[in-house]
Parts: sequence; C-alpha cells; structure tokens
Amino acid sequence: MTKLKIGICGWGNVATGLYEQLVGGDEIYADWEICCIGARRDNPKCNPGSTKILRDIFKVVDEDIDVLVELIGGVETAKELITMALNSGKHVVTANKAVIFEHGQELINLAKRNNVQLLFESAVCAGTPAIKMLSNDLIANKISKVAGMLNGTTNFILSKMEEGASFEAVLNEAQEKGYAEPDPSLDINGTDAAQKIGILSALAFNSGLPTTNFYIEGIENIQSEDFAYANDFHFTVKHLAVAKLNDRGLELRSHPVMLSKNSSLAGLKGVRNGIQFDTNLLGEFHVAGSGAGRESTASGLISDLYTLANSNQSNPMQYPDFSKKPNLLNFDDLIFKYYVYLEVKDEPGVLALISKIFAAQGIGFDKVIQKDQLDNGNVPIVILTDPIIEKEMQVALQDLENHPVILNSKIIRIEDL
Ligand code: HSE
Repeated sequence: MTKLKIGICGWGNVATGLYEQLVGGDEIYADWEICCIGARRDNPKCNPGSTKILRDIFKVVDEDIDVLVELIGGVETAKELITMALNSGKHVVTANKAVIFEHGQELINLAKRNNVQLLFESAVCAGTPAIKMLSNDLIANKISKVAGMLNGTTNFILSKMEEGASFEAVLNEAQEKGYAEPDPSLDINGTDAAQKIGILSALAFNSGLPTTNFYIEGIENIQSEDFAYANDFHFTVKHLAVAKLNDRGLELRSHPVMLSKNSSLAGLKGVRNGIQFDTNLLGEFHVAGSGAGRESTASGLISDLYTLANSNQSNPMQYPDFSKKPNLLNFDDLIFKYYVYLEVKDEPGVLALISKIFAAQGIGFDKVIQKDQLDNGNVPIVILTDPIIEKEMQVALQDLENHPVILNSKIIRIEDL
C-alpha cells in the first residue's frame, strides 16, 4: 500500500461523507493522509479536527498532495480547478458528472498529457461500479447496449409513488436524505441521467463528451394512476437512460419507460440504480446498487483513491481516444411500443375515433382497456400499441389532442429488457 496525500475541495454532504469514512480508520486507508480541505465555509455537521482548512479552494492545488478530490460541484469553476490540478501534476478524483459530461474529453486528454490520472467512478451511479468496470473489466467485450436507471432520486420518487405517496412529499424526503442535486430539477427533468448515459456511452461507444441533441424527458408528468394502469399489464414505470449501437448508428435517450415487472431493473426500488450491459462475451450483464447519497459516493471515491494508491503504472485507466464518433440516430426515427393514456368524454363513437386516427398512422393496438368513469364524468382509456416509429406516434397524438372529445393524453414508451 502506497502512502497517498489527499486534498479535498468542497465541504458539503459528499465531501464530509468521504472525510468521515476516511478518518473512520479502516486499515485499507490507514496510510492515507488528508492534508487539507478547501472549504469556503464551515459545515456544522462535520468537525474536521486539526486538518488544515483553506478558504480559497484553488490554494489546495499548491499544497504537497498527490491527489485533489474535487467535490465542489457545478461546471465551470470545477473545470478550472481540475485543469489547474492536472497541469500541476496532481491526480484528480471527482464525483462531478456535470463537469465530466461537459468537459470530460478535454480533461481526460489533459490528464494524459500531464501523465496523471483523472478518475470519476462516483460520477455515474455513485459507488455502484460502472466506470472502471466498463473501461477496464469489460475491455474484451463488444458492447451493443447500455440501459440503466441512473438517477437515485427519480427511482426513489417513483418507487414511493407506486406505493401511493405524493410526488412533492417524496421529493422533500429525497432532498433530506442527500440524494437530490442542489438543483433537484436536474434529477426530475432527466438531465442528471442524461449526463450519466452520455458518459457511459463515451466509454462504451467512443461517442465523445459532451454528446448533444439527444432526447431527454423527466418524470414530471408521471402520476400515481399510471402505476395502477400499468399494473393491469404487469408493467411498472421507471426512468431509463439508454445508449445502443447498431449498424445505422448510436441511439441515445433518457426518459420514463414502462418495464415488465419480470425484468431485473423493474425490481430495483428506492435509491437503487441498475444497469444492463448487452455484451458479446458475457451476454446480458447486470450491476445494481445504491446510486446516490454520501455513503455510496464515498465508496466510489475511495475505490478511485485505492486505484491510484495501488497503481504501478502511470496510466491504470484505459479511456477511449474519442477520435471517431458514431452517427447519432434521430429520436423521431426510432421504433417503440407505447403505453397511451387518454382521458375522453364518455360519448358513443370515441373508441372508433381513436381507432381511425391510429389507423391513419399505421398504428396497431396490442391491448385496450376502458377504465371506470372518473369523478369528473370522463373515462380513462389505456392502450398498448404495436411497434411504430416515434414520429408517426407524435402525429397521431397531435391529431387526438386536437379533437374536443380527447381531454388529456400521455404516452410512455415501453422498453423490452
Ligand atoms: N442526484 C443524483 C441522483 C446523485 O439522484 O442519482 C448521484 O449522482
């Protein structure tokens, strides 16, 4: 075990979680030293003892450290700090998926040029192994698909909603538990999961960072009733991020899906994340674990520090060279089966109207259920469709919404996993 001199930048939930774990005294890191902490202000929840505190976080770079652990969050200041550290010959460990998504390619190249390491295991699924596994352990495999529930906050919210809780109450609980981002709208609107699948896709498919112009949708429109209706078809609702490579190009997306309750990801509740890798040598390969929170993030950070402490080579991580980017497929041209929810006036001929509009776009019904009348007198109709191109479904949905007997509509794409 090599001695490791560590400087931590940031003193929030994640940084104090790492500190408490490291000073906890496990023999794995008995030889590591936290030399200093860059903290703009004290954190009443954690006493750093006699550790040197620097109010100017950039001064951490000038200290006698081997590695700077960037836990300040955000994008541009974090990029500046990481750049300074790499240029000063310090390794960097970060849990910051936003800075890796936006500037990862440039920063990895900078680390290579400076002959130091940039490690970011906790940027995706917190401590649940994903980055080093994909970059190193799966290196012999050709990967065709990466599909994951990559946001702990949304899975926590959806799991509780399935049990009957309200969206707002559960979001508050997720914030209190330290799962949500400082701006929780990034969790809720699908951005956080999109950045994570962008990072996994860059490593699996050499798609570069950042990848722009892919489809991102959050869980804002999911309601408790969707779980009840989904249950009729043995489905549940999850938020999924997908990267899939085929002969035509790369499919990249982050949005809610209906999943069969028999699928392995459907059974993951609460803050758990899960990823399915489709590979040529291992077949379908799954990983699942806690995807947010200070303990899980500390686990990933320590695994990166351990890699640095035990690496005899200057370059223990094999990242792609990002030289060739696959063609990004247009979301409108992708094919899905859909769950369609329609709230309609309780009048004769409505089903015939829906059939006509769907038939005009070549959309076939797989199953149709008319539910009991709502308190307002309207009737919910729930449809599962046959596979159809996204743009055809959007035309049909627009036609339905233009019709006065259709009062509300929603689609959720069905994912076969
Ligand atoms: N807000 C993130 C989540 C934290 O809920 O998954 C981990 O990136």
